[in-house]
Amino acid sequence: MSELQLNIKYEEFASAAEMSPDDQKLVALALESQKGSYSPYSHFQVGAALKLADGTIVKGANQENAAYPSGLCAERTALFWAGANYPDVPLDTLAIAGSDHGVLCESPASPCGSCRQVMAEYQKKHGRPLKVILVGSKRIRKFHKVDDLLPFIFDSLHMD
Ligand code: THU
Repeated sequence: MSELQLNIKYEEFASAAEMSPDDQKLVALALESQKGSYSPYSHFQVGAALKLADGTIVKGANQENAAYPSGLCAERTALFWAGANYPDVPLDTLAIAGSDHGVLCESPASPCGSCRQVMAEYQKKHGRPLKVILVGSKRIRKFHKVDDLLPFIFDSLHMD
């Protein structure tokens, strides 16, 4: 038996002002994307801004439904839109911002397991790391690859 340890690296910023101009822009777009949230049931507004490798920006927001499981998270609305409309363009960075009843979470909202799995799929498809930025009012976290949010990813290699 051997005991192993995982080392997960991420950056934490006190505010967007500490980030690169490109990342600042994406953070602002994630916040703006919250306006598209349709969340009459949870009142939790999530916005996503996805930058593609060619600079294209795709925005997403959570969409709820009276039949709860029929709704979709903000991240996946953006990821699936990019997959459907820009299938050959790799993904660069996904910024996510979540607010509870209109108030941005102090500690950033973290993507659910299904969204992490979908991020992992596109990262694998394009063969390059997808960066993820989680936006909160007191801190912002930046991960340089999906693996750092979803260790031991299940991907197509397991089906070879
Ligand atoms: N939600 C997202 O949009 N992204 C996440 O990663 C977590 C949760 C949405 C789903 C639902 O509309 C609301 O937040 C409350 O769960």
